[in-house]
Amino acid sequence: MEEKLQTSNASQEIEKIFPDAEDFLPINGTDYIELYVGNSKQAAHFYKTALGFQSLAYAGLETGMKDRESYVLIQDKIRLVLTSPLNADTEIGKHIDKHGDGVKVVALWVDDATSAFKETTSRGAEPFMEPTTEKDEHGEIVKSGIYTYGETVHMFIERKNYNGIFLPGFKKWETVYNPESVGLKYVDHMVGNVGWGEMNKWVEFYAKVMGFTQLISFDDKDISTDYTALMSKVMSNGNGRIKFPINEPAEGKKKSQIEEYLDFYQGAGVQHIAVATDNIIETVTAMRDRGIEFLRVPSNYYDTVLDRVGEIDEDLEPLKELGILIDRDDEGYLLQIFTKPIEPRPTLFFEIIQRKGAKSFGKGNFKALFEAIEREQELRGTL
Ligand code: FE2
Repeated sequence: MEEKLQTSNASQEIEKIFPDAEDFLPINGTDYIELYVGNSKQAAHFYKTALGFQSLAYAGLETGMKDRESYVLIQDKIRLVLTSPLNADTEIGKHIDKHGDGVKVVALWVDDATSAFKETTSRGAEPFMEPTTEKDEHGEIVKSGIYTYGETVHMFIERKNYNGIFLPGFKKWETVYNPESVGLKYVDHMVGNVGWGEMNKWVEFYAKVMGFTQLISFDDKDISTDYTALMSKVMSNGNGRIKFPINEPAEGKKKSQIEEYLDFYQGAGVQHIAVATDNIIETVTAMRDRGIEFLRVPSNYYDTVLDRVGEIDEDLEPLKELGILIDRDDEGYLLQIFTKPIEPRPTLFFEIIQRKGAKSFGKGNFKALFEAIEREQELRGTL
């Protein structure tokens, strides 16, 4: 009951920063997410095998690309681009050396990439790429880009005059090895970790520069264990298709997981990509069977969870067996689970989420979850 009250308080915290602002940056959805990785060929194999992505497009030496190789993977509405450099001393190589494998680009699908660039840079965004038109026999795209936190970039992709496989410069990537999808549907939200005292700066960036509004905020009283703490605010675009929670570390007795991330990523960056499924039990079973490791909460979590969240459609047993977490807000409930980091550094990980009405982010699970992360930090000697 106490937890339920906390959840409804969170909903009451919903506030809009600029309620009357026009949507000067209409966004249709996430276009793609590009990761800079040490070995794009092997990473593509991992994302296909373990996460059920399908081969879509390729660019590299065979397509006339001299400095990099990129594999594009797709699963329903999610497109991932995995890019590695082909030479020494490249920007991409330096990025990987500094940050490890991680998200470089969160690309947003827009109808007008030129206007997106003008609207955001005129409001203070640091330019990454001026509006640029690229053409091939399938038409033309316009792209532009701005920096966000750390060295992370938002590209704006205008593809209304393009019907090729991905972008000009890419060819269809045909493979014999095509493992089945695991049922991942779309990007639900993507979380950024920023430095000490920088959350509000980046919240203001998304509000002022990109016209986003704030959905929810959590402070260190919501998100803390005996040892560590963090603060978070969730920013969303006008139509709600893009949701970016922003975390910063808060003082605790020991080192926050956000601080651990910042140490290993050498600065701000994307902490996790949350992807939606219509059947989390099937999705997580498939991912587990294909080798993905998930964070586990103690099994006594399941002794009381239904007292907290009430009735759910699913049987509790498979959820317990897989370690799937449950939370409820005023509008419904959600099921979620988090992978362990998917690269050597304890940085980027994935969340799998199934929403059954709930629009929140699993606040009721934070404590159990962070205690699970702390046990991992303890093993790494980074708590
Ligand atoms: Fe999340």
